[in-house]
Amino acid sequence: MADGMQAAEVAAALAAGYTLPTTWYTGATYYAREQEAIFRRAWQYVGLAEQVAQAGDFFTTQVAGVPLVIVRDAAGTVRAFVNVCRHRGSVLVGQECGQRTTLQCGYHAWTYKLDGRLHKAPGMADEPNFPAADLALIAARLEAWGPFLFVTLDPAAPPLGEFLGELPELVTATGLDLGKIKRRVRRTLEIQANWKIVVDNYLECYHCPVAHPGFCDLIDVNDYHITEYDYFSTQTGALKESAKAGAGKHHYDASQGVTEGFYAYLWPNFTLNIYPGPGNVSLNLFVPLAVDRTLAIYDYCFAEAVSSDAANDFIRFIDQVQDEDTDLCASVQRGMQSGYFPQGRLMLTRERALQHFQRLVQRHIAP
Ligand code: FES
Ligand SMILES: [Fe+2]
Repeated sequence: MADGMQAAEVAAALAAGYTLPTTWYTGATYYAREQEAIFRRAWQYVGLAEQVAQAGDFFTTQVAGVPLVIVRDAAGTVRAFVNVCRHRGSVLVGQECGQRTTLQCGYHAWTYKLDGRLHKAPGMADEPNFPAADLALIAARLEAWGPFLFVTLDPAAPPLGEFLGELPELVTATGLDLGKIKRRVRRTLEIQANWKIVVDNYLECYHCPVAHPGFCDLIDVNDYHITEYDYFSTQTGALKESAKAGAGKHHYDASQGVTEGFYAYLWPNFTLNIYPGPGNVSLNLFVPLAVDRTLAIYDYCFAEAVSSDAANDFIRFIDQVQDEDTDLCASVQRGMQSGYFPQGRLMLTRERALQHFQRLVQRHIAP
């Protein structure tokens, strides 16, 4: 039934509570199509403004396999460029991050200003009609939501604010001040699963009572709510009465500050999580590496008032939840590859946010 389904059939199956066909999670054709139709068009979280706090600060990353360099120029503007030299195509900046006054290529030393213009190339003066002005780095669109930097490779994408919709207001309503948070830890981890399995797993707490004892000791999963918007969905869960007294099985003290867990998924592969407690935000980015491999990047941010002991307790808690999820995702990938699982059936009262996500996938990559 599931393989070779036409777009209309997939849409109808989703509406009826079935999942995307398994081939969409295991097939190289779908993976390639997603890179073009989703990741080269979406707004992608790339990092925090604090990573480029001073003029000349830069960091490198990639979006849909396109190397990028994010840099604060001499005038203070944060810019994103395709990190490829205009001379013969070498990757321009090799380091992960640092401070520079210019961006110089390690191959023949073409040198670009921090605003992307080609400044100097050895032998340039000897070259008749050398079109230096046409050889600036290729810019990508960069916009910020508070401390979060987003890039899109699509010149026609809507402005970031339009894409985010009500999300910034909902985050503000949690009581957490995004202006006061700083990243303390970045973790990266490879998950042996398709990126959509990782997102699917994030989007429901149906598995929480089975798989996450620590989480269920903190959050009341019987008082848990899912809401879908255009390009994002949220899950909220109240802090358990028993957790108000301090650390229990969940290992960290959430008795002060934010009283409700707020978990937002933003299309296509970004999540923002605020757990109860005195000021934490954890950001997850699930970067597809191959059809069955995903790089998870976790940025753990805290308000300054959170002590390093409290932050470490929180990180231990959240690491445990992430580890539990990592194993579950790999298990789903193995099951999907068995050849005996054409399509799944959702439990819509609890897994509606997966339907919302999978519809977005279907709409973007339908031929
Ligand atoms: S490829 Fe960059 S200077 Fe030649
Ligand atoms: Fe989970």
